[in-house]
Amino acid sequence: MDYDITVIGAGPGGYVAAIAAAQWKKRVCVIERAAEGGVCLNEGCIPTKTLIRTIKLADEVKKADQFGISGVGASGIAIDMEKLQARKKAVVSQLVGGVKGLLKGNGVTVIYGTAAFKDKNTVIVDGKEITSEHFIIATGSKALMPDFIAIEGKNNIITSREALETVKVPKSIGIIGGGVIGIEFAYIFSKLGAKVRVYELMDQILPMVDGEIAALASKRMEKNGVVFYTGAKVQAIKNNTVCFSHGGKQIEEAADCVLMAVGRVPDAEGLNAEGIGLKLEKGAIKTDASMKTNIAGVYAIGDVNGRFMLAHTASHEGLTAVNNICGKKETMDYERIPSCIYIDPEIACIGMTEEQARSKREIKVGRFPLAGNGKALVEGETEGMVKVIVDAAIDEILGVHIYGIHATDMIGGISSAMTAEATAEEIINAVYPHPTVSESIPEAFMAAYGKAIHWR
Ligand code: NAI
Repeated sequence: MDYDITVIGAGPGGYVAAIAAAQWKKRVCVIERAAEGGVCLNEGCIPTKTLIRTIKLADEVKKADQFGISGVGASGIAIDMEKLQARKKAVVSQLVGGVKGLLKGNGVTVIYGTAAFKDKNTVIVDGKEITSEHFIIATGSKALMPDFIAIEGKNNIITSREALETVKVPKSIGIIGGGVIGIEFAYIFSKLGAKVRVYELMDQILPMVDGEIAALASKRMEKNGVVFYTGAKVQAIKNNTVCFSHGGKQIEEAADCVLMAVGRVPDAEGLNAEGIGLKLEKGAIKTDASMKTNIAGVYAIGDVNGRFMLAHTASHEGLTAVNNICGKKETMDYERIPSCIYIDPEIACIGMTEEQARSKREIKVGRFPLAGNGKALVEGETEGMVKVIVDAAIDEILGVHIYGIHATDMIGGISSAMTAEATAEEIINAVYPHPTVSESIPEAFMAAYGKAIHWR
């Protein structure tokens, strides 16, 4: 065999798996058809957050006067899209360079091209055979272009990939789908000055998020001019006009551009996965919790296994697959995966929503509004809250949902606590630094027992 472990795809699942495998002193190869870092780094998480950074900075500068800074007139502030795109490219390119360096430094061989399985120990890349004891498939996902939405006439329909390349901001945009992608781009485009309408099938935007938190975010975005239609089923796009049913009516609304954000689908195209007998379900390569497929020696991690389409899940699944290959038995726990939505303020959540928890257990709910947090006031952003869900009988932390400044940077601590199976009492007993927004976390747990100090 040429290699002990061959990873197909160098996204956040694949490159992490490759480095971890190299650290086990295995002979490792990664096959990548585009660029190291995958969708996350090249056309997903990182570029989106770069755009958002500029938007937030512009908003802050506009408020300079409130913070005692003179000489910066809000009226003169504009975002130069060309420069923003250049910065985005520089950030991406630095990170791609970093990943390349890490792979090289760890002795991982990188082969550029598309891999197709010949058998369970062989792939062909550009006519060349590569043999390996084990394979880890990490080929990611692609935007879903649904067949349940009819597309007629001349349209300007984009996905998140093209949206990230925006230089000329459309005057109006119709966003199909109020999930994570739909909402992050609704925020981005509304702040860039476009008239934004979001069409969401379910009865709340961000259907996967705790209802109370989603409602707060929706209200704030509406204040900034975003129009939401929930319970809206988009049936067709005709010449950039979105045709949908809403409240028993048929409505048509024209836009300059339509963003399709109704989900992503696993991408196993060209792999010949079924050809070697790999089991797929709705396009996803089926695995067990240790990332094993139905074929011994072949693993599948990240979006391609269709379990939890998030970069950090993919990375963790990569570590799990490698550990199992190298003899350390491990399984993924999907109950405690944090999820972050980068709008203003941010949303970060982990575990069960109140709705989910209530249907399963007796619960206590604690809330701490950031209006009661000193650091949030100092920062000039007191909107939002920390909401916690605790099992009433055994004090187990079931869910934490944060809507507010620094939310995405705070949820990691909760993830550690939940992995260590900490109870609410243990969080309350931990000392949180002052002044920080994170003090709202123990306060929310104290509120679950009616004992918050800084809020009544
Ligand atoms: P999604 O599954 O989160 O949302 C798609 C939305 O479209 C759903 O709310 C669904 O109800 C709605 N929908 C479906 N058909 C519809 C119709 N005919 N009319 C109106 N609405 C309809 O998928 P999304 O937002 O495209 O994201 C794809 C994946 O990427 C997700 O797994 C997401 O978690 C991940 N992602 C994560 C990010 C983050 O963590 N910050 C950022 C971007 C994407």
